[in-house]
Parts: sequence; C-alpha cells; structure tokens
Amino acid sequence: MPSTRPRVLLTRRIPSSSFELIEHRCEVEVYDEPGALPPDQLKARLADKDGLISVVTDKVTAEVLDAAPKLKVVANIAVGYDNIDVAAAKARGIVVTNTPDVLTESVAELTWGLIFAITRRLVEGDRLVRRGAWKGWALDFMLASALGGKQLGIIGRGRIGQSVAAKAEAFGMHAVFAARRSGPRGPDEVSFDELLVGSDVISIHAPMTPANRHLIDRKALARMKRTAFLINTARGPIVDEEGLAWALKERLIAGAALDVYEREPEVTAALLSLENVVLVPHLGSATRETRTAMADLAVRNAIAVLEGQPAFTPL
Ligand code: DGY
Repeated sequence: MPSTRPRVLLTRRIPSSSFELIEHRCEVEVYDEPGALPPDQLKARLADKDGLISVVTDKVTAEVLDAAPKLKVVANIAVGYDNIDVAAAKARGIVVTNTPDVLTESVAELTWGLIFAITRRLVEGDRLVRRGAWKGWALDFMLASALGGKQLGIIGRGRIGQSVAAKAEAFGMHAVFAARRSGPRGPDEVSFDELLVGSDVISIHAPMTPANRHLIDRKALARMKRTAFLINTARGPIVDEEGLAWALKERLIAGAALDVYEREPEVTAALLSLENVVLVPHLGSATRETRTAMADLAVRNAIAVLEGQPAFTPL
C-alpha cells in the first residue's frame, strides 16, 4: 500500500538528529550530490511533495511553486529568505518559515571576528608571514586602527544588529543605528547619511529587499570616512561590489570585510587582489551548534505545518 505520510524534499543533508525527527514522520527525499540542487531538478522533485526544506542556494520562485501543486510548506534553513518568493507562496496558500534567533549569536560573533580581522590586519599579516616576508618586529610595522572610542554604525536594527551593538561596549565602541526613514528617532539612532559620515566601522544587518539593493553604492562609500571600515554579513547585493572594489582601490575607505557576495560563490575579481579587504565564504551561521539548531527548527516548522499545526517561526 502506498504511504500516506507527507512527502518532503530536503535539498541538503542535515544533521542526523534533525533527519531522524523528520524521517520518523514523513517520506523524505534528500538531494545528496555536491553543490546546490539545480533549478530544473528542484522543480521536478517537488511535483509530488507536500513539504520543502530549503537552503539559501535554492531559488524558490513562482515558477518552481507552480510545479509543486501539493506543496504546503517551505521551511528555509536560514534567517534570510530572499531566495524565496514569499508573496507567491502565500498567494498559493503555502506557509514559509525561516530560522530566526537560533543563529543570532553566531552571526554577531562572526561580525566581530571580521571587525577585528580587518581593523587589526590579521589576514594581511597571516599572508605576509606565510610568504616569508616578515623581517621582524618594528615599532612602525603593520600599524592598524584601534577600536576604543570609535563609532560603530549599524544598518538594521533586527536581532543580529542589536547583538552586535550589545558587544560594542566591551571594546570601548559607541554603537549607533541607522534610523528608519519615518517614525520617531531613538536616542541611539542617526540618519543614514549621518551614520555614513560619522562612523568608524559600519556593519550591515539589514534584510535583502528591493529597496536595500545597492544601499551601499559608490555615492554612499564616498560619504564614509577615509579611515572607516565596512563589514557585510547580511546579503551581498546590499553592497555594490564593483563600487566597493573601486572605493578600496582608491582608498576612499580604509578597508572592508565581507561574508556575503552579490553573485555567490562568485566574487568580483577586482576584490581578490586587494590587501585591504577580508573575504570569507558565507560563514555567518556556520558553527556546528547553530547549523544543528537551524536544521532542527526548520524540520519542526515543516512537521508542524504538515500535521495541521501553526509553524513555530512563520513569515
Ligand atoms: C541566513 O540564515 O540567512 C544565513 O545567511 C545562512 O547562513
């Protein structure tokens, strides 16, 4: 007799504890090849599925949803959901969920790691040592920028932005947030332009929306202090990557550290040869503990919806 259990597509292998949980309740199909599930395969595999557990590399477009007539839930293993056409899903009665909270501290920690890496020239120093170019200690060698007494400008007042700000005091920094365009302004909020002009480190923690595309463009970069640093652990397209390469090359800003890119896994070639930029491969939530918690939350969201219950973290 064919199974009546809901059918779920997992586009990546997940930690065994989460896998066991879903396998116990659903018929699970896992895409287990290296790399992202190709879009045509995503469509084909969704034809008979009730649930999808996706990751940021899966583009869940209206066209994909049209190929999934039975789909009831898309549980994204990420806090960001710009890979999913949420409006199209909602219009089809499909619940979309993400994984907030469980990754806040991991992304905030990586952000601080990047702040230290670029302001203290850690990666540049590591490269220098490895190529045998270190001639020994000198008073004026590889001088960096101190953080104490400086302003940290945060774009995006969500959970991650607030967590990054909360850690600023420990390093003697003063955190300010970019105020929303409308509504009353809080005591720690400044206008977007004031944030650009007055901050020594600017860190992006905003979601990827059409309005935020190239929020940091050449014009914005030119408003920043020449001694300032830009950190992006949010989404690549918020920063004009070509524009950033130009600003770094022209020394319009002192440096940048990126975890996310406009066309991942591609990185604008001009950035690769610059010393004043640190580039890491989308590692914001990449700790064992956090990825396990993210997978677990996504699985619980999918099961809840498929069993007729409200999702834990719906959009
Ligand atoms: C997220 O959760 O949005 C992260 O970018 C994925 O690692």
